[in-house]
Amino acid sequence: MVLRKPPFPRILIDNVSCTRSGAQILRNVNASIHDGGALALTGNNGSGKTTFLRMLAGFNRPSAGQILWNGHDVTNPGIFQQFKLQLNWLSGKDCITDRLTVLENVLWFELLEGKEGRSMPALEFMGLGSLAHERPRVLSMGQRKRLQLARVLALDRPIWLLDEPSVALDDEGVRLLEHIILDHRRKGGIAIVATHLPIKMEDAVNLKMAARFGRQQTFLDMLGGSGDIW
Ligand SMILES: Nc1ncnc2c1ncn2[C@@H]1O[C@H](COP(=O)(O)OP(=O)(O)OP(=O)(O)O)[C@@H](O)[C@H]1O
Ligand SMILES: [Mg+2]
Repeated sequence: MVLRKPPFPRILIDNVSCTRSGAQILRNVNASIHDGGALALTGNNGSGKTTFLRMLAGFNRPSAGQILWNGHDVTNPGIFQQFKLQLNWLSGKDCITDRLTVLENVLWFELLEGKEGRSMPALEFMGLGSLAHERPRVLSMGQRKRLQLARVLALDRPIWLLDEPSVALDDEGVRLLEHIILDHRRKGGIAIVATHLPIKMEDAVNLKMAARFGRQQTFLDMLGGSGDIW
């Protein structure tokens, strides 16, 4: 009988810790993600979800452990040059400028990528087709998030790093988000998603970040749990 070795994961987070401004934010985190896989990052405010994504995107270096992509350490500058081209990063900062139209705000990213022709269909898919030639100042919060998601679609890179992608989306927006993540994964893409809100991702591995400090007293505690705020 021939025993096949399981395939090496596309991304391996191997006992990784991370400090920011001298404070330890992540400690001994482990995860592995194969093509088509999804990782849901959950945990309290301040527990390190965004830090985890920033570390994958190369903005913060692990202080211990390794992040391996195809078995190679991504902190190696030569490897990182290739790895970063795999990443599609949706963060809290939406990088939307009023100097460009809604369409140009997507197209600009697509052109930088050397691609063409996906921006308008992506906007239409996200329900923003009729606003394509407006300035982003007319967009609501949820529509700005849809613009960001249209960018993710237009760029079409294999590894999606999504930080709270459903915040401000209405129900239909969340369904669209779930649909594009599923479609991306069916094509072999990877989705790593930090979220407080439920987002349906079949067979996603849940990585719950440990709270860094004991729970602090809040205004609700002071009310003695009466539920009356004002
Ligand atoms: N630039 C920074 N320097 C030092 N510490 C930081 C910096 N940015 C964030 N932190 C700290 O890192 C910790 C983790 O923050 P992070 O943004 O990763 O949490 P999070 O889990 O994404 O929280 P949230 O649910 O609020 O988005 C927090 O305690 C925060 O105060
Ligand atoms: Mg965060």
